[in-house]
Amino acid sequence: MGQFDGKVVLVTGGARGQGRSHAIEFAKEGADIVVADIARQVETVPYAMATDDDLRETVKLVEALDQRCVAVTADFRDTDGASAAVSAAVDQFGRLDVLLVNHGVVSLSPVVDMSDQVWDDVIATDLTGVFKAVRAALPQMIEQNYGRIVVTSSMAGRTGLPTIAHYCAAKWGTIGFVKAVAREVADRNITVNAVCPTNVDTDMIHHPEFYALLAPGIDNPTREQVIPGFQSLNAVPVPWIEPIDISNAMMFLAAESSRYITGEALHVSAGWNAFNAA
Ligand SMILES: NC(=O)c1ccc[n+]([C@@H]2O[C@H](COP(=O)([O-])OP(=O)(O)OC[C@H]3O[C@@H](n4cnc5c(N)ncnc54)[C@H](O)[C@@H]3O)[C@@H](O)[C@H]2O)c1
Repeated sequence: MGQFDGKVVLVTGGARGQGRSHAIEFAKEGADIVVADIARQVETVPYAMATDDDLRETVKLVEALDQRCVAVTADFRDTDGASAAVSAAVDQFGRLDVLLVNHGVVSLSPVVDMSDQVWDDVIATDLTGVFKAVRAALPQMIEQNYGRIVVTSSMAGRTGLPTIAHYCAAKWGTIGFVKAVAREVADRNITVNAVCPTNVDTDMIHHPEFYALLAPGIDNPTREQVIPGFQSLNAVPVPWIEPIDISNAMMFLAAESSRYITGEALHVSAGWNAFNAA
């Protein structure tokens, strides 16, 4: 018996990284999975994004656990992409119980030099894309009188970080969004929460632009050389946490035992949030 037997879970940005981990961990607990991902490059993003092969690999890993898995290529910046992902869940599995709004991108630029396109791509993906995913899922959840929605915010949604002001604005914005929607659907047996991770060991942070930020003064720093910079953000002496640490928080917030937790932001921050005033 798994704690999500018979449940249908949609993971946005599920081709790799944290999203793939969520798909696998919910499948281990008995859920059927829809993974949706843009699976192509956005020009202003300074690291390689997921591919179709990544998306197929997630499906393979879920199916190896004897759970059903459907992949959808969908861009959550678009209303049609968000609708297609939700329709896949309802058409294939008849319902949608859990929505994990996990997709996201980051790019780096001081505001004084930030182009419209760099700003627009991050806001469209990390804020508007969250709205579109949640809006697409709500009619089905309202009809079922059941739903669990968890949005991946960030510790960048709890503090200000130079050169990612657009990302901070989007991630702070998702927390306000989550709180408002939580109130709108509180009488429909639907909970809406956010998770705020510290740095997580995925492709999003392991690239030269991010490394330059974390190890100023070192030319082309290596993974080893950025460890002190990453670690200085956390109270617990680790540079980054693992995708499974976020999957565990997702499962906690999606579980029946969390039915009265809604409108919250749960920090999985290795103590980074202990430095914040609130
Ligand atoms: N890695 C970190 O340190 C960290 C820390 C805090 C929060 N986050 C957040 O965690 C989430 C997952 O990121 P990750 O660390 O797994 O990085 P990742 O780059 O491995 O995964 C992000 C996924 O989102 C997909 N995606 C991007 N834009 C999309 C769009 N418009 N439509 C559909 N899919 C899209 C990408 O293709 C990719 O598969 C993101 O929301 C990110 O902002 C990451």
